[in-house]
Amino acid sequence: MTATQLPPALRAYFQSSPVALSLGEAVDDHPLLLTNQRFRDLTGYGSNDVVGRNCRFLQGDSDNREPRLRIRAFLGDEAQTSVRTAILNFRKDGTPFVNLLYMSKLRALTGEVRYIFASQFDVSRTQPERLADYDAALGQTIAKLAPVAAESGIAVEGTLITIANTAATIAQAKMTLSDLDTSSFL
Ligand SMILES: Cc1cc2nc3c(=O)[nH]c(=O)nc-3n(C[C@H](O)[C@H](O)[C@H](O)COP(=O)(O)O)c2cc1C
Repeated sequence: MTATQLPPALRAYFQSSPVALSLGEAVDDHPLLLTNQRFRDLTGYGSNDVVGRNCRFLQGDSDNREPRLRIRAFLGDEAQTSVRTAILNFRKDGTPFVNLLYMSKLRALTGEVRYIFASQFDVSRTQPERLADYDAALGQTIAKLAPVAAESGIAVEGTLITIANTAATIAQAKMTLSDLDTSSFL
C-alpha cells in the first residue's frame, strides 16, 4: 500500500496538523505510510526517508525494553485502543531525545484495524506549559480527525489520557538523557 491510496482528506489533514504525526499500516511489520512536516521538524527525517520502514529505526541501538513491550502489547491486543509511553529516540543527526509517543488505531466499518495512528513529542527539551499545550493540540487533532476519517468509513479509536504531572514527566525524560551521557551509548 502507498500513501496515494489513502483518502486525500486524511492526507491533507495530516499535513495541516500542528503536532508531529505518523500513520502506519496495520499489517505485517507496520510500515509507515505517511509522516507530516512536524514529524520532519522533530526527527530530521522526511517522508522519503521513512515511508515503508518500521518506525523503530528511531531507537537506534537503545534497548527501550519496557516501552517496546507496552507498544507490542498495544499492537497485539485487538481490544486495546491506545497507548502512551516515553521512549528514547535519536534524530537523523544522532541527537538523542525522549519521545512521548501516543498511538491509537483507525478501524474500518468492517471491524478490521486499518491503520495505526501515532504522534511524537520531544519531552526531554520542553517546559511543563509546552507539554500541556502539546496535549491540548494533540487532543484537538484527534477530535477533528474523527469526522475527516468517518467520511472514508474509518473510525478513530482511543482516548488521549493527558499527562497529569507534566513537570515530573519532563524531569524523568531529562534524567534519561543525562544517564545516557554517562553511559556507553555515546
Ligand atoms: C505508526 C507508528 C509510529 C511509530 N512511531 C514510533 C516512534 O516515533 N518512535 C519509536 O521509538 N517507535 C515508534 N513506533 C513503534 C515501533 O515501530 C515498534 O512498533 C516498537 O518498537 C515495538 O516493536 P519492536 O519491539 O519489534 O521494535 C511506531 C509504530 C507505528 C506503527
